[in-house]
Amino acid sequence: MTLAKVATSIFLALSVLTSCKAPLGLFSQGEAQCVASAVSPGKTVKVEFGLCENGEPMWAMSYKNKPVILPSKLGFELVERNFKDDFELIEAKTSQHDETWEPVWGETKNIRNNYTGLEVILNKMTVRLRVYDYGVGLRYEFPEGEITIKEELTEFKLTGNHIAWWIPGDYDSEEYVTQKTHLSEIKERMPEAKQTYWADKTFSPTGVQTPIQLKTDDGLYINIHEAACTDFSTMSLELEEYTFKTHLTPDAHGLKGQLAAPCHTPWRTIKISDDAREMLSKPLILNLNEPCAIKDVSWIHPIKYIGVWWEMITGAKTWDFSTSLEMTKPHGATTENVVQYIDFAAENNIDEVLVEGWNKGWEHWEDNSLEQVYSFTEPYPDFDIKWLNNYAHNKGVKLMMHNETASAIEDYERQLPEALRLMRKYGYDAVKTGYCGDIRPRGEHHYGQYMNRHYLNVVQQAAENHIMVNAHEASRPTGLSRTWPNLLAQESARGGEYEAFAAKGGNPPEHTVILPFTRLQGGPMDYTPGILELDLAWAGNPGHVHTTIPGQLALYLVLPSPLQMAADLPEHYMKHPQAFQFIKDVALDWDDSRYLEAEPGEYVTVARKAKGSDNWFVGGKTAEERATFVPMNFLDKHRSYTCTIYKDSPQSPYEIQTIEVTSLTRIFVKEARGGGFAMTIIPKQ
Ligand code: NOJ
Ligand code: CA
Repeated sequence: MTLAKVATSIFLALSVLTSCKAPLGLFSQGEAQCVASAVSPGKTVKVEFGLCENGEPMWAMSYKNKPVILPSKLGFELVERNFKDDFELIEAKTSQHDETWEPVWGETKNIRNNYTGLEVILNKMTVRLRVYDYGVGLRYEFPEGEITIKEELTEFKLTGNHIAWWIPGDYDSEEYVTQKTHLSEIKERMPEAKQTYWADKTFSPTGVQTPIQLKTDDGLYINIHEAACTDFSTMSLELEEYTFKTHLTPDAHGLKGQLAAPCHTPWRTIKISDDAREMLSKPLILNLNEPCAIKDVSWIHPIKYIGVWWEMITGAKTWDFSTSLEMTKPHGATTENVVQYIDFAAENNIDEVLVEGWNKGWEHWEDNSLEQVYSFTEPYPDFDIKWLNNYAHNKGVKLMMHNETASAIEDYERQLPEALRLMRKYGYDAVKTGYCGDIRPRGEHHYGQYMNRHYLNVVQQAAENHIMVNAHEASRPTGLSRTWPNLLAQESARGGEYEAFAAKGGNPPEHTVILPFTRLQGGPMDYTPGILELDLAWAGNPGHVHTTIPGQLALYLVLPSPLQMAADLPEHYMKHPQAFQFIKDVALDWDDSRYLEAEPGEYVTVARKAKGSDNWFVGGKTAEERATFVPMNFLDKHRSYTCTIYKDSPQSPYEIQTIEVTSLTRIFVKEARGGGFAMTIIPKQ
């Protein structure tokens, strides 16, 4: 795959001094004086930048002439100097940008990046805005000096008591159940929301994480997040009435970031539309990231994988070899067990087999006092690393490396070069990393600047070794996969694993129709779908997956990722060969994607055209029982197709129907509570 930049790049540096000759009217008298403004190419989104009398910077934004962000503060509290006020305008320039670029993998073959740029040069810093028809990116650029951040002052003053889909603010975990409340109810709901995860480290009774999805009374969808967070700490938001205030993750000393200029912050982003489908289809976050930094991307590819994993997550087996010697539970990562997975992968066109619990250290992985937990090069005696890799390669399958770090970061960084050498030696091309437990060095947090540097460092070192990365418990993604496409996916939210944690209530039926509007805004998720044995009694686990078999199949489309697991056990797939056929067939990389219907927390239906093929796949997922007509109007008008539908049924776990369709067909489907449907649509010769 080449990363050819499809160049229709026009850059009209207009260099206009936008002194607000025609202010857009977002600032009222006396609030601040508008000194610069910009309008998106299609004129739907407008932004204004203003300065108060004391030089305090402000911004505001509207969509189709309705205010979205009322005049809101910008700036910083720094250790070194005053960055709150005393700003003066030097110059403001607008520009037009329109290019189309080709991602290495993703939801569409090409992505258009079309915006109006606004560069506001102030005496102490520059505020750069990019204004799209579907949103805005805003970042700060520091020209000189040391910068030690006490807090970022960026605010998002909303126009009313919107509905919000939110999870509690937390410096270390995103594995909460999403809450839907009005803004005014966040504080009251917070204690209940916190109960959905183990830790209680939330920083404020009204603190929430991004991406946060909002909906106004008059049907506007607003999404707040950030893009390109590299050498910076992750942003959370604190609510004061209807204003979100930025709250950065602190370091071990309570500071929020240290930078040396010239440098800039991540983009603060707002996506906006009156059509919920555009929340999912508009690539704001990717567009605001830097182009691909890897020259040769030929080794990067989508991965469908199975793994010695669900057996441990459900509690049937262990990661830990020594426990198995005490005969409490069998060890999962034995040569014998892995062979079964390799054979199954080879027979079913599955690219890779993840093996967790292969390396020494799991005996004490939950001991948070240790600075050194694992060896990333020494296998347990019952895992024959050399033989298994040879066996897999002879069958056209690869093993996927697992590096759970237990968050002992300095030790992982020390061992990383050796760990990567081992991967290359045995022919691994992907690693799943994990960050369970408290970060060591102590006092640092999963979402702080220290850790954001670490995650990127791992991705970059992996790229040098042609290794793809799947990071679990890393900070919520901000589109860095555009620049580093070997970062295939992250977990960084409440994944499918929670269905095995009955004590934490599993994942409610609406969970996977919220995730596309929240966590997935930043990038693909390793959700680990494909559980077909919904009752977990086989593992001695009281849990039951909160969905249906067609609902599980739909997740491969509704939660798009170039890395998808078939998370259940081979023996369970053998029990359900017909449903498993869809998992075998479904593509992971796309030329086109059309969101047919979407409403946060209610339903998502999407049609996707496989990369380099005329085959389409459709996935529909719902929270509550519903019926819908799926139009086939995305199909080629001159062809007919064979459509196989996997759908919920009142009589059986699922029903499969095969029909002939054309672009004029509308297919009626009923979806069960927490269920959905999946379709494979193949052109007839
Ligand atoms: C949590 C991860 O999300 C899960 O996938 C993994 O199996 C465990 N940590 C152990 O590394
Ligand atoms: Ca996890």
